[in-house]
Amino acid sequence: MSDPTAGGLENLLSEDRRFAPSPEFAAQANATADLYSWANADRPAFWAEQARELLSWSTPFEQVLDWSDAPVARWFADGTLNAAYNAVDRHVEAGDGDRVALHFEGEGGDTRTLTYADLQREVAKAANALGKLGVGTGDRVAIYLPLIPEAVVTMLACARIGAPHSVVFGGFSAEALYSRIVDAEAKLVVTADGGYRRGAASALKPAVDEALAKGETTVEHVLVVKRTGQDTDWTDGRDVWWADVVDTASDEHEPVAVEAEHPLFILYTSGTTGKPKGIFHTTGGYLTQAAYTHLNVFDLKPETDVYWCTADIGWVTGHTYVVYGPLVNGATQVIYEGTPDTPHRGRWWEIVQKYGVTILYTAPTAIRTCMKWGEEIPAGFDLSSLRVLGSVGEPINPEAWMWYRRVIGGDRTPIVDTWWQTETGAIMISPLPGVTEAKPGSAQVPLPGIAADVVDDEAHPVPDGGGGYLVIREPWPSMLRGIWGDLERYKDTYWSRFDGLYFAGDGAKKDADGDIWLLGRVDDVMNVSGHRLSTTEIESALVSHPWVAEAAVVGASDETTGQAVVAFVILRGDAGGGDQSADEVQTTLRNHVAKEIGPIAKPRQILVVAELPKTRSGKIMRRLLRDVAEHREVGDATTLADSSVMDLIAQGLAAPG
Ligand code: WT7
Repeated sequence: MSDPTAGGLENLLSEDRRFAPSPEFAAQANATADLYSWANADRPAFWAEQARELLSWSTPFEQVLDWSDAPVARWFADGTLNAAYNAVDRHVEAGDGDRVALHFEGEGGDTRTLTYADLQREVAKAANALGKLGVGTGDRVAIYLPLIPEAVVTMLACARIGAPHSVVFGGFSAEALYSRIVDAEAKLVVTADGGYRRGAASALKPAVDEALAKGETTVEHVLVVKRTGQDTDWTDGRDVWWADVVDTASDEHEPVAVEAEHPLFILYTSGTTGKPKGIFHTTGGYLTQAAYTHLNVFDLKPETDVYWCTADIGWVTGHTYVVYGPLVNGATQVIYEGTPDTPHRGRWWEIVQKYGVTILYTAPTAIRTCMKWGEEIPAGFDLSSLRVLGSVGEPINPEAWMWYRRVIGGDRTPIVDTWWQTETGAIMISPLPGVTEAKPGSAQVPLPGIAADVVDDEAHPVPDGGGGYLVIREPWPSMLRGIWGDLERYKDTYWSRFDGLYFAGDGAKKDADGDIWLLGRVDDVMNVSGHRLSTTEIESALVSHPWVAEAAVVGASDETTGQAVVAFVILRGDAGGGDQSADEVQTTLRNHVAKEIGPIAKPRQILVVAELPKTRSGKIMRRLLRDVAEHREVGDATTLADSSVMDLIAQGLAAPG
């Protein structure tokens, strides 16, 4: 494990700009400072109160937290509820059926508006259709869709019948889709003919066909939304059009009340080994924290706000802050299918202006990209509706934070830098916008109800000013309940590093006020544009190519994407790769990684080397490769089995060609 504070953004801690909430904002804010003392007095009781307040239960719970089977928590276990009912029906029943739930903006400019009443009908129809396709409570459904209303409808339809969904990001390859389908033993795949990406129709269905051709699966049907109208291969008996089974279904459907601990979804994320982990979340606790954080961190006023989270539903942010949090809270939100620069670089700001977006939640990498494009672009639009800005996915550097506040937020809006993970299910560390004096670059304080800390190697809390590993001391409602089908890996990954503490995998520091600054991953996980990638997974993809004998991958710092994938490969002498130009090798292998995992995993750079630096026990010293990739003087190489290796690499890289 690397030093948690290495390359530790030392400069962050000299950051002394402060932004107190304006008195006007504070006066109207949902969250007040007394939430902290309330939660501290009795954490489980605090969460129970939130669960009762924010959700509608079919059977009210009596039990709050059962930690007797730690590290698997049970929250509100004797209660029953339905997630889709909470996200949709109850708002209609409360008389808010005419409120807009979704303003959908297609990349090509086509739009659709769904009120809560519309959403209720669509979800009920889809739930009936899933039933007809043989999906019942407990069955798993894989979802491989662009960000179109049907994606949200399908997730909620699954929740309505208690069938856990497993959303696979549309940018992942057939191979990645296949392994996720197999691991979750999905009975149904929901996809589309394609989606729009950078101005063109981009096919999705072929990847599903290819995935299902890779081997035996448990998939019985493929439900296909027509989005682009492009030609699509068809397997009779297996494939069905959405229009044929959903649009024709009854719009009356009784939601299935499930136990609070019934699995709501599985979402795969990269870990330190090659095999992605199926993180699974259950219903009652997850929804409680999703709703609570969405309401308090973003200061949501459901009657007046227009909320927009730019994440895709393929990531956890899309689950918690596009689907469940906002809809359970009855919010009006925008969803946008496409990229920020299609057809022009002002597209996002045009959308903010068009819908009067008041709350915007996005990632530092997007902010840095907009900085690069220039502030005259957002300046061309009216952004005065914005009142809260959020950031998620990686540490936000203070300069990007300042730019976000000044250029997008008109020097007026609070910014919430929210730390959390797929595993935590919902936000864990963040300022509260009407309470916390914000510090650019820091997520600062554990939310009321969350016991986060920074500890040293021996699990001792570090003093203010010290650095170490981020841990969570007490169970929280939206925590993962495990890794699908692999309890041991769950215990091993998160609970074995420090006895009784959840190990997040992030390095962190406490400043002089005790506020937390996140410093990035301490394991073999990279963060590229806020997306988690595993070094080992990309290495296995590289060595699966016949040219490659060995590969080592590192995350090198990158101005826009935070980190970028840099690969070092040793070619096989006899496989033909050695006869190719460096360019040819690089292009071929980059495309190979895209095919194996997905375009997001493509290395920025692939360097052919003769040897890799290894310790005597054979472990690759990625730290040294990172030095090379970041053009730094190579650090201490004394533990290498062969100390001349780094010289060889340096010479090889200096050599022309
Ligand atoms: C990892 C989790 C949470 C949804 C998106 C990513 C990094 C996330 C922050 C932040 C510093 C952050 C951490 C974490 N991260 N948010 N505000 N400040 N780092 O979810 O793919 O599960 O990745 O993203 O390293 O462990 P994920």
